[in-house]
Amino acid sequence: MISSSFLDKKKSFPENSKVLVRVDFNVPLKNNAVADDSRISLCIPTIKLLLENNNAVILISHLGRPKKFEKNLSMKIVYRHLKEKTFFQNKTIHFCDSFDEEVLEREKKKIKLGEILLLENLRFDSGEQLSSLLFAKKLAKNLDFFINDAFAVCHRKDASIIKIPSLFKKNKLPGLLLQKEIFELNKVFSSKQKKLAVIGGAKISTKVSLINKLLYICDDIIIGGAMAFSFIKYLNGSVGLSLYESEQIEKVASILQDAKKNKCTIHLPLDVITIKKDNTLTYERKITNIPDDEMGLDIGPQSCNLFESIILKSKTIIWNGPMGMFEKKEFKVGTEKILLAISSATKSGSYSLVGGGDTLSAISNFQKNNSNFHGFNFISSGGGAMLAFLQNPDLPGIKALKNE
Ligand code: 3PG
Repeated sequence: MISSSFLDKKKSFPENSKVLVRVDFNVPLKNNAVADDSRISLCIPTIKLLLENNNAVILISHLGRPKKFEKNLSMKIVYRHLKEKTFFQNKTIHFCDSFDEEVLEREKKKIKLGEILLLENLRFDSGEQLSSLLFAKKLAKNLDFFINDAFAVCHRKDASIIKIPSLFKKNKLPGLLLQKEIFELNKVFSSKQKKLAVIGGAKISTKVSLINKLLYICDDIIIGGAMAFSFIKYLNGSVGLSLYESEQIEKVASILQDAKKNKCTIHLPLDVITIKKDNTLTYERKITNIPDDEMGLDIGPQSCNLFESIILKSKTIIWNGPMGMFEKKEFKVGTEKILLAISSATKSGSYSLVGGGDTLSAISNFQKNNSNFHGFNFISSGGGAMLAFLQNPDLPGIKALKNE
Protein backbone atom coordinates (compact mmCIF):
# COMPACT_ATOMS: atom_id res chain seq x y z
CA MET A 1 0.00 0.00 0.00
CA ILE A 2 1.18 3.56 -0.72
CA SER A 3 1.75 5.63 2.42
CA SER A 4 -0.54 8.53 3.23
CA SER A 5 2.40 10.96 3.49
CA PHE A 6 2.87 10.50 -0.27
CA LEU A 7 -0.68 11.78 -0.69
CA ASP A 8 -0.53 14.91 1.42
CA LYS A 9 1.22 17.12 -1.05
CA LYS A 10 -1.22 19.93 -1.76
CA LYS A 11 0.59 22.21 0.68
CA SER A 12 3.96 21.62 -0.95
CA PHE A 13 2.86 22.61 -4.47
CA PRO A 14 5.44 25.05 -5.89
CA GLU A 15 5.03 28.83 -6.18
CA ASN A 16 6.41 31.36 -8.67
CA SER A 17 8.07 28.56 -10.67
CA LYS A 18 8.06 27.06 -14.14
CA VAL A 19 6.34 23.71 -13.66
CA LEU A 20 6.31 20.79 -16.09
CA VAL A 21 3.04 18.86 -15.72
CA ARG A 22 2.44 15.40 -17.27
CA VAL A 23 -1.30 15.13 -17.87
CA ASP A 24 -3.34 12.49 -19.69
CA PHE A 25 -5.08 14.40 -22.47
CA ASN A 26 -5.46 11.16 -24.42
CA VAL A 27 -9.07 12.02 -25.24
CA PRO A 28 -11.42 10.50 -27.84
CA LEU A 29 -11.55 12.49 -31.09
CA LYS A 30 -14.22 12.78 -33.77
CA ASN A 31 -14.08 14.85 -36.96
CA ASN A 32 -10.82 16.50 -35.92
CA ALA A 33 -12.25 17.68 -32.57
CA VAL A 34 -12.36 16.46 -28.96
CA ALA A 35 -15.39 14.17 -28.58
CA ASP A 36 -15.27 13.81 -24.79
CA ASP A 37 -13.13 16.02 -22.55
CA SER A 38 -13.66 14.26 -19.20
CA ARG A 39 -9.95 13.51 -18.92
CA ILE A 40 -9.11 17.20 -19.43
CA SER A 41 -11.62 18.24 -16.75
CA LEU A 42 -10.07 15.78 -14.29
CA CYS A 43 -6.72 17.61 -14.51
CA ILE A 44 -8.15 21.09 -13.92
CA PRO A 45 -7.80 21.06 -10.08
CA THR A 46 -4.02 20.60 -10.40
CA ILE A 47 -3.67 23.24 -13.13
CA LYS A 48 -5.88 25.65 -11.14
CA LEU A 49 -3.85 25.27 -7.97
CA LEU A 50 -0.59 25.79 -9.86
CA LEU A 51 -1.90 28.95 -11.50
CA GLU A 52 -3.23 30.25 -8.16
CA ASN A 53 0.30 29.76 -6.83
CA ASN A 54 1.55 32.01 -9.64
CA ASN A 55 3.38 29.32 -11.60
CA ALA A 56 3.88 28.99 -15.33
CA VAL A 57 2.41 25.62 -16.36
CA ILE A 58 3.96 23.57 -19.17
CA LEU A 59 1.54 20.76 -20.06
CA ILE A 60 2.74 17.57 -21.74
CA SER A 61 0.68 14.57 -22.88
CA HIS A 62 0.37 11.86 -25.49
CA LEU A 63 -2.66 11.47 -27.77
CA GLY A 64 -3.37 8.07 -29.33
CA ARG A 65 -0.61 5.70 -30.34
CA PRO A 66 1.28 7.40 -33.21
CA LYS A 67 4.85 6.39 -34.01
CA LYS A 68 5.58 9.68 -35.78
CA PHE A 69 3.81 12.96 -36.70
CA GLU A 70 0.14 12.41 -37.63
CA LYS A 71 -1.88 15.53 -38.29
CA ASN A 72 -5.08 13.98 -36.97
CA LEU A 73 -3.39 13.22 -33.62
CA SER A 74 -1.84 16.63 -33.11
CA MET A 75 -2.22 18.19 -29.67
CA LYS A 76 -3.27 21.29 -31.59
CA ILE A 77 -6.77 19.74 -31.65
CA VAL A 78 -6.71 19.72 -27.83
CA TYR A 79 -5.25 23.26 -27.80
CA ARG A 80 -8.21 24.51 -29.87
CA HIS A 81 -10.57 22.74 -27.46
CA LEU A 82 -8.88 24.25 -24.38
CA LYS A 83 -9.33 27.73 -25.76
CA GLU A 84 -13.09 27.15 -25.87
CA LYS A 85 -13.37 25.46 -22.46
CA THR A 86 -14.71 27.71 -19.70
CA PHE A 87 -11.86 27.19 -17.23
CA PHE A 88 -9.23 28.18 -19.79
CA GLN A 89 -11.11 31.07 -21.41
CA ASN A 90 -9.61 33.85 -19.31
CA LYS A 91 -6.12 32.28 -19.31
CA THR A 92 -3.24 32.76 -21.71
CA ILE A 93 -2.40 29.47 -23.43
CA HIS A 94 0.44 29.01 -25.90
CA PHE A 95 1.11 26.02 -28.12
CA CYS A 96 4.49 24.69 -29.22
CA ASP A 97 4.39 22.35 -32.22
CA SER A 98 8.04 21.31 -32.22
CA PHE A 99 10.43 19.28 -30.09
CA ASP A 100 13.39 21.04 -31.66
CA GLU A 101 15.57 22.07 -28.70
CA GLU A 102 15.98 25.69 -29.79
CA VAL A 103 12.27 26.19 -30.44
CA LEU A 104 11.35 24.54 -27.15
CA GLU A 105 13.78 26.69 -25.19
CA ARG A 106 12.49 29.84 -26.84
CA GLU A 107 8.85 28.94 -25.96
CA LYS A 108 9.74 27.98 -22.39
CA LYS A 109 11.59 31.25 -21.94
CA LYS A 110 8.73 33.28 -23.39
CA ILE A 111 6.02 31.90 -21.11
CA LYS A 112 5.23 34.17 -18.13
CA LEU A 113 4.17 33.18 -14.63
CA GLY A 114 0.39 32.58 -14.60
CA GLU A 115 0.40 31.35 -18.22
CA ILE A 116 0.07 27.91 -19.82
CA LEU A 117 2.15 26.33 -22.56
CA LEU A 118 0.90 23.11 -24.20
CA LEU A 119 3.46 20.99 -26.05
CA GLU A 120 2.85 18.79 -29.10
CA ASN A 121 1.90 15.08 -28.79
CA LEU A 122 4.83 13.46 -26.97
CA ARG A 123 4.54 10.27 -29.03
CA PHE A 124 5.45 12.19 -32.21
CA ASP A 125 9.01 11.88 -30.88
CA SER A 126 10.24 8.28 -30.73
CA GLY A 127 12.15 9.23 -27.56
CA GLU A 128 8.93 9.18 -25.53
CA GLN A 129 8.12 5.49 -25.87
CA LEU A 130 11.78 4.47 -26.08
CA SER A 131 12.09 6.10 -22.67
CA SER A 132 14.98 8.24 -23.88
CA LEU A 133 16.84 10.17 -21.20
CA LEU A 134 17.93 12.65 -23.87
CA PHE A 135 14.32 13.41 -24.79
CA ALA A 136 13.42 13.73 -21.10
CA LYS A 137 16.32 16.18 -20.58
CA LYS A 138 15.18 18.27 -23.54
CA LEU A 139 11.67 18.57 -22.08
CA ALA A 140 12.81 19.23 -18.52
CA LYS A 141 15.63 21.70 -19.31
CA ASN A 142 15.40 25.02 -17.43
CA LEU A 143 12.18 24.07 -15.64
CA ASP A 144 11.96 24.12 -11.84
CA PHE A 145 9.47 21.46 -10.86
CA PHE A 146 7.71 18.32 -12.19
CA ILE A 147 4.19 17.14 -11.44
CA ASN A 148 2.69 13.89 -12.71
CA ASP A 149 -1.10 14.03 -12.89
CA ALA A 150 -1.49 11.28 -15.50
CA PHE A 151 -2.57 8.23 -13.49
CA ALA A 152 -3.82 6.47 -16.64
CA VAL A 153 -0.25 6.31 -18.00
CA CYS A 154 1.60 5.45 -14.78
CA HIS A 155 1.87 1.77 -15.78
CA ARG A 156 3.99 2.79 -18.79
CA LYS A 157 7.75 3.36 -18.78
CA ASP A 158 7.66 6.28 -21.22
CA ALA A 159 10.27 9.06 -20.91
CA SER A 160 7.74 11.53 -19.50
CA ILE A 161 6.63 9.01 -16.88
CA ILE A 162 9.89 7.61 -15.51
CA LYS A 163 12.84 9.56 -16.97
CA ILE A 164 11.64 13.13 -16.38
CA PRO A 165 11.05 12.58 -12.63
CA SER A 166 14.55 11.13 -12.30
CA LEU A 167 15.86 14.56 -13.36
CA PHE A 168 14.08 16.53 -10.67
CA LYS A 169 15.53 15.02 -7.45
CA LYS A 170 13.28 16.55 -4.77
CA ASN A 171 11.24 18.92 -6.94
CA LYS A 172 8.55 16.48 -8.04
CA LEU A 173 5.09 15.56 -6.83
CA PRO A 174 1.99 13.60 -7.73
CA GLY A 175 -0.79 15.89 -9.00
CA LEU A 176 -4.18 16.09 -7.29
CA LEU A 177 -5.82 13.59 -9.66
CA LEU A 178 -3.02 11.08 -9.23
CA GLN A 179 -3.23 11.48 -5.45
CA LYS A 180 -6.99 10.89 -5.54
CA GLU A 181 -6.63 7.78 -7.69
CA ILE A 182 -4.05 6.29 -5.33
CA PHE A 183 -6.12 7.21 -2.27
CA GLU A 184 -9.29 5.55 -3.66
CA LEU A 185 -7.55 2.46 -5.02
CA ASN A 186 -5.75 2.01 -1.70
CA LYS A 187 -9.15 1.67 -0.01
CA VAL A 188 -9.67 -1.63 -1.82
CA PHE A 189 -6.55 -3.06 -0.21
CA SER A 190 -7.19 -1.66 3.26
CA SER A 191 -10.90 -2.53 3.52
CA LYS A 192 -11.59 -5.47 5.86
CA GLN A 193 -15.17 -5.84 4.58
CA LYS A 194 -16.52 -8.52 2.25
CA LYS A 195 -15.04 -7.82 -1.18
CA LEU A 196 -16.37 -8.63 -4.60
CA ALA A 197 -14.73 -8.19 -8.01
CA VAL A 198 -16.92 -8.15 -11.11
CA ILE A 199 -14.70 -8.87 -14.10
CA GLY A 200 -15.95 -8.90 -17.67
CA GLY A 201 -14.68 -8.32 -21.17
CA ALA A 202 -13.82 -10.44 -24.16
CA LYS A 203 -10.47 -12.02 -23.34
CA ILE A 204 -9.47 -13.94 -20.24
CA SER A 205 -5.82 -13.68 -21.39
CA THR A 206 -5.79 -9.93 -20.64
CA LYS A 207 -7.10 -10.45 -17.10
CA VAL A 208 -5.45 -13.67 -15.86
CA SER A 209 -2.87 -11.95 -13.69
CA LEU A 210 -5.46 -9.53 -12.32
CA ILE A 211 -7.78 -12.40 -11.35
CA ASN A 212 -4.83 -14.26 -9.81
CA LYS A 213 -4.18 -11.24 -7.59
CA LEU A 214 -7.87 -10.63 -6.78
CA LEU A 215 -8.21 -14.23 -5.54
CA TYR A 216 -6.16 -13.22 -2.50
CA ILE A 217 -8.14 -10.12 -1.62
CA CYS A 218 -11.74 -10.96 -2.61
CA ASP A 219 -14.37 -13.24 -1.12
CA ASP A 220 -16.22 -13.46 -4.44
CA ILE A 221 -15.39 -12.93 -8.11
CA ILE A 222 -18.08 -12.69 -10.77
CA ILE A 223 -16.88 -13.54 -14.27
CA GLY A 224 -18.95 -12.22 -17.17
CA GLY A 225 -18.44 -11.30 -20.81
CA ALA A 226 -16.95 -13.65 -23.39
CA MET A 227 -14.15 -14.58 -20.99
CA ALA A 228 -16.66 -16.74 -19.10
CA PHE A 229 -16.71 -19.16 -22.06
CA SER A 230 -13.09 -20.21 -21.39
CA PHE A 231 -14.26 -21.34 -17.93
CA ILE A 232 -17.34 -23.08 -19.34
CA LYS A 233 -15.18 -24.86 -21.91
CA TYR A 234 -12.81 -26.04 -19.17
CA LEU A 235 -15.84 -27.36 -17.26
CA ASN A 236 -16.83 -29.37 -20.36
CA GLY A 237 -19.80 -27.22 -21.33
CA SER A 238 -20.83 -26.69 -24.97
CA VAL A 239 -20.20 -23.08 -25.95
CA GLY A 240 -21.26 -23.30 -29.61
CA LEU A 241 -19.68 -20.51 -31.67
CA SER A 242 -18.99 -18.34 -28.62
CA LEU A 243 -15.52 -16.82 -28.27
CA TYR A 244 -13.13 -18.64 -25.96
CA GLU A 245 -9.36 -18.95 -25.73
CA SER A 246 -8.25 -22.58 -25.95
CA GLU A 247 -4.68 -21.67 -24.96
CA GLN A 248 -5.93 -20.23 -21.67
CA ILE A 249 -7.71 -23.37 -20.45
CA GLU A 250 -4.81 -24.41 -18.18
CA LYS A 251 -4.75 -20.96 -16.62
CA VAL A 252 -8.48 -21.25 -15.99
CA ALA A 253 -7.86 -24.56 -14.20
CA SER A 254 -5.25 -22.98 -11.93
CA ILE A 255 -7.48 -19.95 -11.23
CA LEU A 256 -10.25 -22.31 -10.08
CA GLN A 257 -7.87 -24.33 -7.90
CA ASP A 258 -6.27 -21.26 -6.31
CA ALA A 259 -9.68 -19.70 -5.70
CA LYS A 260 -10.73 -22.80 -3.76
CA LYS A 261 -7.52 -22.72 -1.69
CA ASN A 262 -8.09 -19.05 -0.86
CA LYS A 263 -11.78 -19.46 -0.07
CA CYS A 264 -12.73 -17.13 -2.90
CA THR A 265 -15.89 -18.16 -4.77
CA ILE A 266 -15.86 -17.75 -8.55
CA HIS A 267 -19.35 -17.14 -9.92
CA LEU A 268 -20.00 -17.92 -13.58
CA PRO A 269 -23.10 -17.00 -15.60
CA LEU A 270 -25.94 -19.58 -15.62
CA ASP A 271 -27.50 -18.54 -18.91
CA VAL A 272 -26.71 -16.45 -21.99
CA ILE A 273 -28.41 -14.59 -24.80
CA THR A 274 -27.33 -16.10 -28.09
CA ILE A 275 -27.64 -15.35 -31.78
CA LYS A 276 -27.32 -17.48 -34.92
CA LYS A 277 -25.01 -16.46 -37.73
CA ASP A 278 -26.66 -14.02 -40.21
CA ASN A 279 -29.82 -13.84 -38.14
CA THR A 280 -31.21 -11.13 -35.89
CA LEU A 281 -33.32 -13.40 -33.64
CA THR A 282 -31.96 -13.92 -30.12
CA TYR A 283 -32.35 -16.96 -27.86
CA GLU A 284 -31.99 -17.60 -24.12
CA ARG A 285 -29.79 -20.65 -23.47
CA LYS A 286 -28.25 -22.47 -20.54
CA ILE A 287 -24.59 -21.45 -20.66
CA THR A 288 -23.32 -25.04 -20.58
CA ASN A 289 -25.53 -26.07 -23.45
CA ILE A 290 -25.27 -23.62 -26.33
CA PRO A 291 -26.20 -25.14 -29.72
CA ASP A 292 -23.32 -25.55 -32.18
CA ASP A 293 -24.57 -22.81 -34.54
CA GLU A 294 -25.14 -20.12 -31.87
CA MET A 295 -22.91 -17.57 -30.19
CA GLY A 296 -23.41 -16.14 -26.67
CA LEU A 297 -23.22 -12.34 -26.58
CA ASP A 298 -24.69 -11.34 -23.21
CA ILE A 299 -25.51 -12.88 -19.85
CA GLY A 300 -29.14 -14.05 -19.46
CA PRO A 301 -31.83 -13.17 -16.88
CA GLN A 302 -30.97 -15.94 -14.38
CA SER A 303 -27.34 -14.81 -14.35
CA CYS A 304 -28.46 -11.20 -13.85
CA ASN A 305 -30.55 -12.23 -10.82
CA LEU A 306 -27.75 -14.34 -9.35
CA PHE A 307 -25.11 -11.62 -9.86
CA GLU A 308 -27.43 -8.94 -8.51
CA SER A 309 -27.98 -10.86 -5.26
CA ILE A 310 -24.20 -11.31 -4.80
CA ILE A 311 -23.56 -7.62 -5.52
CA LEU A 312 -26.18 -6.48 -3.03
CA LYS A 313 -24.53 -8.55 -0.28
CA SER A 314 -21.02 -7.16 -0.90
CA LYS A 315 -19.56 -4.22 0.95
CA THR A 316 -16.64 -3.41 -1.35
CA ILE A 317 -17.15 -3.82 -5.09
CA ILE A 318 -14.57 -3.51 -7.86
CA TRP A 319 -15.93 -3.56 -11.42
CA ASN A 320 -13.97 -3.82 -14.64
CA GLY A 321 -15.32 -4.98 -17.99
CA PRO A 322 -18.79 -5.35 -19.57
CA MET A 323 -20.95 -8.49 -19.33
CA GLY A 324 -21.60 -8.70 -23.06
CA MET A 325 -21.55 -6.87 -26.37
CA PHE A 326 -23.15 -3.80 -24.77
CA GLU A 327 -22.61 -1.62 -27.85
CA LYS A 328 -25.58 -3.46 -29.47
CA LYS A 329 -28.97 -2.85 -27.91
CA GLU A 330 -29.89 -6.58 -27.99
CA PHE A 331 -26.89 -7.39 -25.79
CA LYS A 332 -26.59 -4.49 -23.38
CA VAL A 333 -29.13 -5.65 -20.77
CA GLY A 334 -26.68 -7.75 -18.73
CA THR A 335 -24.14 -4.94 -18.41
CA GLU A 336 -26.86 -2.44 -17.49
CA LYS A 337 -28.36 -4.75 -14.84
CA ILE A 338 -24.93 -5.11 -13.24
CA LEU A 339 -24.38 -1.36 -13.44
CA LEU A 340 -27.71 -0.71 -11.71
CA ALA A 341 -27.08 -3.36 -9.05
CA ILE A 342 -23.67 -1.85 -8.20
CA SER A 343 -25.16 1.62 -8.14
CA SER A 344 -27.96 0.43 -5.76
CA ALA A 345 -25.41 -1.28 -3.51
CA THR A 346 -23.50 2.04 -3.47
CA LYS A 347 -26.65 3.89 -2.45
CA SER A 348 -27.08 1.41 0.42
CA GLY A 349 -23.60 2.15 1.73
CA SER A 350 -21.24 -0.25 -0.08
CA TYR A 351 -18.02 1.14 -1.54
CA SER A 352 -17.75 0.84 -5.34
CA LEU A 353 -14.80 1.42 -7.61
CA VAL A 354 -15.09 1.07 -11.36
CA GLY A 355 -12.71 1.51 -14.26
CA GLY A 356 -11.69 0.41 -17.73
CA GLY A 357 -12.39 2.03 -21.11
CA ASP A 358 -15.33 -0.24 -22.10
CA THR A 359 -16.88 -0.07 -18.65
CA LEU A 360 -16.76 3.72 -18.74
CA SER A 361 -18.38 3.87 -22.20
CA ALA A 362 -21.15 1.54 -20.97
CA ILE A 363 -21.73 3.84 -17.98
CA SER A 364 -21.75 6.99 -20.05
CA ASN A 365 -24.19 5.46 -22.64
CA PHE A 366 -26.48 4.37 -19.81
CA GLN A 367 -26.33 7.67 -17.93
CA LYS A 368 -27.48 9.63 -20.98
CA ASN A 369 -30.87 7.89 -20.98
CA ASN A 370 -31.47 7.02 -17.32
CA SER A 371 -32.12 9.10 -14.28
CA ASN A 372 -32.49 6.19 -11.80
CA PHE A 373 -28.73 5.82 -11.51
CA HIS A 374 -27.01 6.75 -8.25
CA GLY A 375 -23.45 6.51 -9.43
CA PHE A 376 -20.40 4.91 -7.84
CA ASN A 377 -17.96 5.97 -5.15
CA PHE A 378 -15.10 6.30 -7.56
CA ILE A 379 -14.61 6.03 -11.31
CA SER A 380 -10.95 5.58 -12.12
CA SER A 381 -9.55 7.53 -15.07
CA GLY A 382 -7.23 4.60 -15.82
CA GLY A 383 -8.04 1.44 -17.75
CA GLY A 384 -4.80 -0.53 -17.98
CA ALA A 385 -3.33 1.55 -15.15
CA MET A 386 -6.14 0.64 -12.74
CA LEU A 387 -5.74 -3.07 -13.51
CA ALA A 388 -1.97 -2.79 -13.12
CA PHE A 389 -2.34 -0.92 -9.80
CA LEU A 390 -4.59 -3.63 -8.39
CA GLN A 391 -1.86 -6.15 -9.23
CA ASN A 392 1.02 -4.06 -7.90
CA PRO A 393 0.44 -0.51 -6.62
CA ASP A 394 4.06 0.45 -7.15
CA LEU A 395 3.49 1.48 -10.78
CA PRO A 396 6.60 2.77 -12.62
CA GLY A 397 5.23 6.34 -12.74
CA ILE A 398 4.41 6.36 -9.02
CA LYS A 399 7.73 4.80 -8.02
CA ALA A 400 9.58 7.43 -10.08
CA LEU A 401 8.05 10.23 -7.98
CA LYS A 402 9.40 8.85 -4.72
CA ASN A 403 12.81 9.76 -3.42
CA GLU A 404 13.81 6.34 -2.14
C1 3PG B 1 -5.13 5.20 -21.62
O1 3PG B 1 -5.89 5.66 -22.47
O2 3PG B 1 -5.40 4.19 -20.92
C2 3PG B 1 -3.86 5.94 -21.33
O3 3PG B 1 -3.85 7.20 -21.91
C3 3PG B 1 -2.67 5.11 -21.77
O4 3PG B 1 -2.63 5.02 -23.17
P1 3PG B 1 -1.78 3.87 -23.86
O5 3PG B 1 -2.46 2.57 -23.54
O6 3PG B 1 -1.79 4.19 -25.33
O7 3PG B 1 -0.39 3.90 -23.28
